[in-house]
Amino acid sequence: MDFPRVMAASVAASAMALTPTVSQSAGGDEIFKKSCTSCHYVDGPAKEKSIADQLAKKGPELWYAGSKFQKVWLVAWLQDPKPIRPLAYNSISEKNKGDHPKASAADAQALTDYLMTLTSTVVTAGAVKPGANVRGRATFTKKMPCTGCHIYGKEGQGGQSGPSLAGASKRLNPDWILAYLANTKTFKPVRDMPDFGQVLNAKDLQDVAAYVASFE
Ligand code: HEC
Ligand code: HEC
Repeated sequence: MDFPRVMAASVAASAMALTPTVSQSAGGDEIFKKSCTSCHYVDGPAKEKSIADQLAKKGPELWYAGSKFQKVWLVAWLQDPKPIRPLAYNSISEKNKGDHPKASAADAQALTDYLMTLTSTVVTAGAVKPGANVRGRATFTKKMPCTGCHIYGKEGQGGQSGPSLAGASKRLNPDWILAYLANTKTFKPVRDMPDFGQVLNAKDLQDVAAYVASFE
């Protein structure tokens, strides 16, 4: 006669066994929908077609995050998001306040697992070997105006209008750097960075990507 009660108890027990102990119950995609879509979009290809579209964005697009970022960096950054762009997003004068939302360790892990699934077919794996590339260095520091817009050294030297490239060796996928330089408009159709795919040849692009990918 006790059957239903026993059944109910065993159902409850198995449900408990399935419930994770930390707050990993929500998948990264669900957490993202709740906490991140107000500022980031994740469905590519790039949506922005005009400067007005770009200015309406509250944060960078993340539809190719899995091709762009290194996983270890991403998990850590989501928990302790230090400024990447010296200036506030879409601003040419206001300082970046460093007020990006912080995720818990469990949420950062789930969000990273989700974001790493978002990739771009334009990125070729194994195309770039990071290193102190002499030709890449000459392109970056002398031939092209890269340093006018990007911080690149540990001492913070370089321009402020682009994202800081200091620490790129830990943050960015070297193969994405090359893909971005060769196909800038695919990723950022209306951002204020010259399209070097039209200016540099394939070897120069590869060398400068290798050099940037070595920044500490
Ligand atoms: C209020 C708007 C806002 C919200 C909400 C927000 N972000 Fe951001 N996010 C930004 C801005 C602005 C930046 C650029 C920060 C910088 O350059 O330092 C950014 C940068 C990022 C970057 C680096 C992208 C790049 O190209 O440099 C990642 C990854 C990221 N956010 C993930 C998330 C996740 C995951 C969430 C949800 C937990 C989230 N963000 C919530 C505004 C937001
Ligand atoms: C006129 C200014 C300007 C010049 C010159 C310039 N960049 Fe950029 N760069 C930008 C801007 C703006 C972005 C994208 C900003 C954003 O996503 O918010 C960018 C993005 C990047 C990124 C991606 C970084 C990230 O975290 O998203 C890399 C890598 C990069 N530039 C490398 C270079 C290299 C290499 C050169 C020289 C060959 C160069 N840039 C020259 C302005 C510039």
